Amino acid sequence: MSKPILFSGIQPTGNLHIGNYLGAVKNWVTLQNSGEYDCFFSVVDYHSLTGNMTAEERREQITRTVIELLAAGIDPEKSTLFVQSHVPEHTELAWIFNSLTPMAELERMTQYKDKSTQQAKNINAGLFTYPVLQVADVLLYHGTHVPVGEDQVQHIELVRDVARWFNNRYGNYFPETDVLLTHIPRVKSLLEPTKKMSKSKGQGHVIELADEPESIANKLKKAVTASEGEEGSPGVENLLLLLKEFGSAGDYTAFSAAEKEGTVRYGDLKQVLAESIATYFADFRKKRAALLQDNTTVTAIMESGAKKAGDVAKETMDRVRKMVGVR
Ligand code: TRP
Repeated sequence: MSKPILFSGIQPTGNLHIGNYLGAVKNWVTLQNSGEYDCFFSVVDYHSLTGNMTAEERREQITRTVIELLAAGIDPEKSTLFVQSHVPEHTELAWIFNSLTPMAELERMTQYKDKSTQQAKNINAGLFTYPVLQVADVLLYHGTHVPVGEDQVQHIELVRDVARWFNNRYGNYFPETDVLLTHIPRVKSLLEPTKKMSKSKGQGHVIELADEPESIANKLKKAVTASEGEEGSPGVENLLLLLKEFGSAGDYTAFSAAEKEGTVRYGDLKQVLAESIATYFADFRKKRAALLQDNTTVTAIMESGAKKAGDVAKETMDRVRKMVGVR
C-alpha cells in the first residue's frame, strides 16, 4: 500500500539556528524516521526571490541549507530532498493556480501583510503570489500532509481551496491536504527574549546549529536573564525551554526547581545549557564540516533528489496540461 505523501519546504536563509531546528527540521527528521510517510523536503529557492538576498548569497545558501538538512538527519535514502528550482514544474503549476486564485484571498494573507511592512521598499508581485507557489509545491506531489508551524496554517488552507477550485473547474484530480500541526516550542532571541529568535536581529540573538562550543558559551553568557530573585522573566524562561529540549531531564528538573525557589544561579544555568547544546549538535557539526568538503557527494544528492521529485512532477504536469486544455 502506498503511504500518505508528506511535503514541506524551507527557505535557503543561511545557517540554520536552533529556532528553525525546533520549529521545523527536528520534526521533519522524526516524521521521516517514523516510516509512515513518503516524504518530500524542498529548499524553496524560488520563494527566496521575493526577498532581498543577493544572487551570491542565494547561491551559497541553497547548497548550505541542503548540507545542513543532511547533517541534521534528513536522509536522501529515506526522503526526497531537493532544490525547488531544479524542478521547473513548480513555477509552471503556480501559474495555472495563479489563474484560479482570487486576489481577495491573497490580500487576506497575514504573512504577506507582515512582509510588506518588513520590506516596504520591495513589495513585489512575487511576494503577493508567494502562497500560490507554495500551493503548487504541495500539490505537484499530491501532498496530503504538510508539517508546518502556526504561521503557515493560512497558506495550507489555501492549498485546500486551490485544490477545490481546480477540481470543480477542471475535474477531480487534487487531494485534500491537511496541516500536520506540531507542537513547536517558541524559541526567543537571546538578547530580546520577548521577540522570536531570528537572524535578522543580529548574530548575538541566535544560536546556530553550526556554532562552535565556545561561541555558544559566549552568546549564552550575554543572554538576558533577570536580576537574581526576579520571577517570571522571559529570558530565563527561554533558557529553561532550551535546557528542556537539549539538556538532560535531571538538569532540567534541577534548574526549574531552583528557579521556582529563587536559588538558581544564572551563570551555572548558562554553562550547563551551553554544554548541552554543544554536545547535542556535535555530530551535526562533524557531518556538516565533512559535507562542506565534499562537493561531489552533495551535488550527487541534489541531482538524485531533483530526478526523483522531477519524475513525479512531470507526471502531474502532463495530466494538468491536458486537464486545463493546453494539450
Ligand atoms: N512558506 C514556508 C515558510 O515560510 C516555506 C514553504 C514553501 C513551504 N513551500 C512550502 C512549507 C510548502 C510547507 C509546504 O516557512
